[in-house]
Amino acid sequence: MWLPLLVVIFILILVYRWHRHSYILQNLSDKYVLITGCDTGFGNLLAKQLDQRGMRVLAACLTDKGAEDLKKETSSRLQTAILDVTNIQNVSSVAKWVAGIVNEKGLWGLVNNAGISIPIAPNEWLTKEDFFRILNVNLLGTVDVTLKMLPLIRKARGRVVNVASICGRISICGGGYCLSKYAVESFSDSIRRDMMPFGVKISIVEPGFFKTRVADASLQKEALTNIWAKATEEVRRTYGQNYYDKYCSTVEQSLEKCSPNLFLVTDCIEHALTAVYPKTRYSAGWDAKLFFIPLSYLPTSWVDFLISLRQTKPAEIGAISKGH
Ligand SMILES: *[C@@H]1O[C@H](CO)[C@@H](O)[C@H](O)[C@H]1NC(C)=O
Ligand SMILES: *[C@@H]1O[C@H](CO)[C@@H](O)[C@H](O)[C@H]1NC(C)=O
Repeated sequence: MWLPLLVVIFILILVYRWHRHSYILQNLSDKYVLITGCDTGFGNLLAKQLDQRGMRVLAACLTDKGAEDLKKETSSRLQTAILDVTNIQNVSSVAKWVAGIVNEKGLWGLVNNAGISIPIAPNEWLTKEDFFRILNVNLLGTVDVTLKMLPLIRKARGRVVNVASICGRISICGGGYCLSKYAVESFSDSIRRDMMPFGVKISIVEPGFFKTRVADASLQKEALTNIWAKATEEVRRTYGQNYYDKYCSTVEQSLEKCSPNLFLVTDCIEHALTAVYPKTRYSAGWDAKLFFIPLSYLPTSWVDFLISLRQTKPAEIGAISKGH
């Protein structure tokens, strides 16, 4: 008696949500969107996609080549700037550039997409500098760009979309990447609460594994080779060559299974920017929806166990003390 009723209620809620999320804004053509990291990957595809939708895209690229190539493939509406999100002067001058373009309209959308992931490695093999480099781009870059754009975004009662990751929900590997994505989730949540009174909406997109530079197997392998070569004698002896080889092949295998369908992510970002009622969180990709996000709700000890299944034993785990 109760079960069918619950099922019906559940289906009604889904239909209601689907219907609510299907309302799309009018007049996209007068809206400006700034996207960081447009050289390759999600940022590059998103810039082209929003340009085709008629939005006014301000594409920030790290390299001149990235900007030139993007211009060739897009309409004359799209404008580019060179931006290194870790350079505070550079971020300030891009904010001035944007202010000069959008004028009284303000900035409708900011997409914090620029990010790096190298190196992924067992934490003990890394240095503070390895963590700093990633946090500086993925977290502090996002914070700086957001803070400097907020006055323009408030003016438009606009949106911020932060590209996080399933690695912001579950720490599946060592290195600065997961840390930075957890922090981006936290920053997004807290700034969403600050911005509510202003009518500014903040969304988080959590992609699974996709074929972008962040998931480039050969770049990761190259970094791991360097790290292992530079590791202390003690670390090399303790973990052993077998552990290193197995670690490299696990990373390689995981990254080779990445999805080439980047549009699954850019479609989520587009929805967050163009829907009347954007969602707070979007998970993108089947691996994210069916595996990683559900996994993140399990008790931590279960997750520890599942992740340990993929790990080999280090060569020397030390004397195991018997009795206490
Ligand atoms: C959309 O654009 C049209 C024509 O430019 C204008 O008449 C209308 O008021 C705009 N609607 C909104 C909601 O801004
Ligand atoms: C940011 O720095 C780069 C390289 O230093 C420079 O070419 C670019 O013009 C700067 N961007 C802005 C908007 O000033």
